[in-house]
Amino acid sequence: MSAAELARCGGTPVLTPQQVNAGIGSWPEVLPDDIDAVVEVLKSSHEPWGFMHPMVRGFQRTYGEFVERSHCLAVATGTAALHVAVAASGAEAGDEVITPALGFVASATCVLHHNCIPVFADVDPRTFNIDPEDVRRRITPRTRAIIAVDLL
Ligand SMILES: Cc1ncc(COP(=O)(O)O)c(C=O)c1O
Repeated sequence: MSAAELARCGGTPVLTPQQVNAGIGSWPEVLPDDIDAVVEVLKSSHEPWGFMHPMVRGFQRTYGEFVERSHCLAVATGTAALHVAVAASGAEAGDEVITPALGFVASATCVLHHNCIPVFADVDPRTFNIDPEDVRRRITPRTRAIIAVDLL
């Protein structure tokens, strides 16, 4: 899909207003099975966070297969996942990480959590996603990672 086809740019919305009002497509989608699984982990786990629970390990294995990766680590929030990604990039304290100037606050705080320096790149006004040309301008010898957010 090109940016010109996005609904916010005048393209046809994927959902009708009636579907939106009925809650279809709402985010995050939490289904009854999801709630049951979380409750089961909480009730049967020997530690309070449950990351060693067989169901969590099974989720990591299944999701890793789904995205065709040999390693998968489940975390509790998107913010934690972003921090893990910054750490996995090999960035060290004082390194620069380029992140979109528009987005959710965690796109920048995950960099700070790792004692790195967020460098804000502008976004494309059509898509609201990070502008590759502005990213190129901001790359320095201290740049260790680029956070590309598919915001909308
Ligand atoms: C683009 C984006 N990144 C990161 C996050 C952080 O997720 P969480 O609230 O689970 O920490 C959000 C949450 O809405 C988000 O929209």
